[in-house]
Amino acid sequence: KIEGSLRPQYLEDYIGQTKAKETLKIYIEAAKARGEALDHVLFYGPPGLGKTTLAGIIANELGVNMKVTSGPAIEKPGEMAAILNNLQERDVLFVDEIHRLNRQVEEVLYPAMEDYAIDIVIGKGAGARSIRLDLPKFTLVGATTRAGMLTAPLRDRFGVVNRLEFYTTEELRTIVQRSAQMLGVEIDPKGAMEIARRSRGTPRLANRLLKRVRDFAQVKYDGVITEEVAVYALDLLEVDRFGLDYADRTILMTMIEKFGGGPVGLETLAAAIGEDSGTLEDVYEPFLLKNGFLQRTPKGRVATSFAYQHLGFSLSRDS
Ligand code: ADE
Repeated sequence: KIEGSLRPQYLEDYIGQTKAKETLKIYIEAAKARGEALDHVLFYGPPGLGKTTLAGIIANELGVNMKVTSGPAIEKPGEMAAILNNLQERDVLFVDEIHRLNRQVEEVLYPAMEDYAIDIVIGKGAGARSIRLDLPKFTLVGATTRAGMLTAPLRDRFGVVNRLEFYTTEELRTIVQRSAQMLGVEIDPKGAMEIARRSRGTPRLANRLLKRVRDFAQVKYDGVITEEVAVYALDLLEVDRFGLDYADRTILMTMIEKFGGGPVGLETLAAAIGEDSGTLEDVYEPFLLKNGFLQRTPKGRVATSFAYQHLGFSLSRDS
């Protein structure tokens, strides 16, 4: 609940994701004015960028309840049917990792999303027939790390699709300052900037690092987060000045030392670092790609000259 308390509750307190925020504001206002449920909303993008937070904000702005579940948590069509049937009119149903719903469960969602109804089969064999059960009008908010993993019929049933982007350092600095205020810890602008710079464009990480830096400020210094405290703590946490952590550096070092900088296939690289390939692709890669440490080529992943330079390798080295 401590982590939850740093999450903004309304759109006006939400920093960043300007495009998603401004369009959602219009859609929410329009749906409210019509007294209708908001269209189904899909958020996709790397973890920690605000998908769950925005789902909660949508429910708050609509003045309705939010029920939270996730793709892997629902095993049977009947479980999904029960969740849908228990919603109140215009409620938000948040389904995290929606790409991991199994086929049968996903099929329950099609008529639910399209017609606010579920089809229940009664009886067996020749005597089987299906009856249609009406559902409350609701808003499905789905979240996934990769929109490409969704089946076309599911993706097509979302009226609003938002790709969440990495945050700018300036946005993160504002978030860090807001969070520090909520935590009751004093922070100077340079201290906030240092945490922001090293947070890989991700508010979840910024807030986590803020809490760790706060501990150092409290125990080793006088409680105030200055640039000096932030640099000291973040260096100890092995988060470097570009925000790369131990895992990021291991990925790049492995590419360089074991695979001559690449190209190396995703699966091969994942096996070499002992990480699941899906996690490598969804969690680590987007930031490394976005910031020019790594490239995707048809033959595999390649470490860039920037990665060599950053990790202290000479650029004259050929591959
Ligand atoms: N805390 C986490 N994400 C945030 C955001 N986008 N705006 C404000 N505070 C946040």
